[in-house]
Amino acid sequence: MEVRRKIILCLLMTITMGCYKVEGREPILHRVGGGRYTWTPKANFTTWSSHENFYKGDWLYFGFDKLVHNVLEVNKTNYENCIDTNFIKNITKGGRDVVQLLEARTYYYLCGRGFCFQGMKIAVKVKEPTLQLSPSTLPNKALNSTRIINTKLIGFLITVLIMNVCVI
Ligand SMILES: *[C@@H]1O[C@H](CO)[C@@H](O)[C@H](O)[C@H]1NC(C)=O
Ligand SMILES: *[C@@H]1O[C@H](CO)[C@@H](O)[C@H](O)[C@H]1NC(C)=O
Ligand SMILES: *[C@@H]1O[C@H](CO)[C@@H](O)[C@H](O)[C@H]1NC(C)=O
Ligand SMILES: *[C@@H]1O[C@H](CO)[C@@H](O)[C@H](O)[C@H]1NC(C)=O
Repeated sequence: MEVRRKIILCLLMTITMGCYKVEGREPILHRVGGGRYTWTPKANFTTWSSHENFYKGDWLYFGFDKLVHNVLEVNKTNYENCIDTNFIKNITKGGRDVVQLLEARTYYYLCGRGFCFQGMKIAVKVKEPTLQLSPSTLPNKALNSTRIINTKLIGFLITVLIMNVCVI
């Protein structure tokens, strides 16, 4: 009897916790410029990045002709002034190169050899992933508090009901 009770309690706890589990988010690969081969002077990276959301753990993909272009991570000053010396990291490998955004900060990339002046530079603002509590424990705007209370109350009542029926 004691064992059965524990199993049922355990199940109930799992169900309850399942209702409020934290929803993770899989890292996304962002193709810089929007395509497979779009790290070029023709793309508008300001426009492209304004439609993207970058979160910590996401990846950037740069597709380009490695004989002509490269990808260098630089600091803010050098990004603004298109200076390709004293770069932080050389991302360039084969022309289909990826880099993971491991920190919640702004990353700056440019193409050296003068192409930065033709617009080949990008600032990527990386955000901390927002934890989404489901189904309705988000405290702000999107959800209205009446519904949160109702959902919680219903969840609680169901739990009590199940316990009364099963755990005797
Ligand atoms: C960026 O690097 C340059 C050269 O290394 C340096 O002079 C400058 O102060 C740095 N800027 C920032 C914002 O760190
Ligand atoms: C970056 O790395 C690539 C591949 O290792 C190399 O060919 C290239 O010369 C490097 N670029 C700079 C500016 O150091
Ligand atoms: C990108 O497009 C925006 C809006 O159309 C424009 O203001 C900006 O100058 C463009 N940037 C480049 C590098 O062409
Ligand atoms: C919340 O939703 C309920 C019913 O869906 C509605 O009656 C109430 O006005 C809403 N409250 C707010 C603050 O939006």
